[in-house]
Amino acid sequence: MADLEMIKRKVGKEASQFVESGMTIGLGFGSTAYWLIQALGERVKNGEIFYGVPTSNQTAEWAKEVGIHLTDFAHVTTLDVAIDGADEVDENFQLIKGGGGALLREKIVASAAKEFIVIVDYTKIVQKLGAFPLPIEIIPFGYERTQKQIADLGLHPALRKEEEVYLTDNGNYILDCDGGVIENPSELSHTLHNIPGVVESGLFIDMAAKVIVGKEDSIEILDV
Ligand code: 5RP
Repeated sequence: MADLEMIKRKVGKEASQFVESGMTIGLGFGSTAYWLIQALGERVKNGEIFYGVPTSNQTAEWAKEVGIHLTDFAHVTTLDVAIDGADEVDENFQLIKGGGGALLREKIVASAAKEFIVIVDYTKIVQKLGAFPLPIEIIPFGYERTQKQIADLGLHPALRKEEEVYLTDNGNYILDCDGGVIENPSELSHTLHNIPGVVESGLFIDMAAKVIVGKEDSIEILDV
């Protein structure tokens, strides 16, 4: 297993210590969240019970495979905790998320939790956000105009494509925006929300309560 993968695994396991049997958990998406789910799965084998609200269809599959009971907002309004990865974490604990395309559900789930715990390896820690292209989820209708409005902000939006145009679990498009350093993430978040057609941006402002950082030889837990 590559070193970074090993670190992600340790971070996922560490984060699982903040989950007690019987809790309802917001389950993130990505290669780090995967290891959290595996760690919880080990505890399911020992008789513990967890309820999870998944942030992606893939997360739902992983959770089902290890015996976590899936639930949704028809049955719960508040989650005990949400745990998810991030693409970047800055010095003020603001985040870029959405590399995996699940930013909308991730933000809804994180905002519904009493505590939002972010799990990352050390490569995600930056002074200022922006080296990682900011994902923005947009409605397909009129996307060319939405893209132009975002381009006018100097954000260099590129429509995410795999073989075809990438579709989120919500049937929307993603623009990956390579606009360089984001000097004021909070202001940019507000600006983006005011553009018709923008569903959500990958800027998670003042949401993290704890950041668990995996390093080569240790794990650091930062309380925000
Ligand atoms: C998915 C996300 C992920 O949390 C983010 O991309 C980090 O993923 P990984 O843990 O694989 O590095 O926001 O939409």
